[in-house]
Amino acid sequence: MNESPIQEIKARLAQARTVTVLTGAGISADSGVPTFRGTDGLWRNFRPEELASPEAFARDPHLVWEWYNWRRELIASKIPNAAHLALVELERHIEHFWLITQNVDGLHPTAGSQKLSEIHGNIWKVRCTACGMISPNHDIPILNPPHCPTCGGLLRPHIVWFGESLDPQDLDRSYTALHTCEVLLIIGTSGVVYPAASFAPVAKERGAYVVEINLDPTPHSDLVDLAIQGRAKDIVPQLVTTSA
Ligand code: APR
Repeated sequence: MNESPIQEIKARLAQARTVTVLTGAGISADSGVPTFRGTDGLWRNFRPEELASPEAFARDPHLVWEWYNWRRELIASKIPNAAHLALVELERHIEHFWLITQNVDGLHPTAGSQKLSEIHGNIWKVRCTACGMISPNHDIPILNPPHCPTCGGLLRPHIVWFGESLDPQDLDRSYTALHTCEVLLIIGTSGVVYPAASFAPVAKERGAYVVEINLDPTPHSDLVDLAIQGRAKDIVPQLVTTSA
């Protein structure tokens, strides 16, 4: 038996050949990106659920783009923190590693993560509502809803909104990673949005050792093998240092 939770997780990671990580807004909170369900995530008193939906976009694309423009401006100045970087390091050391993120801010790929699924999309990509073309787009500010350079259709953020399905390929890859992992690290997610909310029980049923790292207790804290309360940027780097 190891003397501390950190030592215990390090020992598990040292032995594991297959590790999966699930991240949420809490990991980016340490870079200064507001979480969704914290009060600083509100924009003009709208809850994200009121804007991040196909219905909201159909009703008022201008308003939805205004919100995304605000979020783009906010995220553009943020950089990956020690927790993002530690996961890049972990990816280098684990034979079969997969990172599943619900974050759309792009901070994981910016940090250098390569083996990842951005299951809710990426705020720096757009998709044409007419021809379906997906393209990178880093424009700021976006003052009016942009249009497709190819067909002229209305562009929308390439983000999975409430009521929409996740990309089947992303889901397949994620479930393979959850079904096969020996260790699952869940970092900075409130665990209330599906399907990610089901990932902890899915991995646990298949025998994974499940760890939660979160500032606050969540609905999963009692189900996981080990729940550590703290900031992602303080805890995650400790898990991947080579020192004892
Ligand atoms: N370190 C670790 N955890 C933190 C930190 C931190 N520095 N700061 C906040 N947290 C925790 C909060 O306690 C909360 O449990 O991170 C969690 C963030 O929860 P949410 O705001 O609900 O974000 P998330 O779980 O990623 O939301 C899931 O909901 O709105 C949709 O599509 C959106 O991807 C998003 C999804």
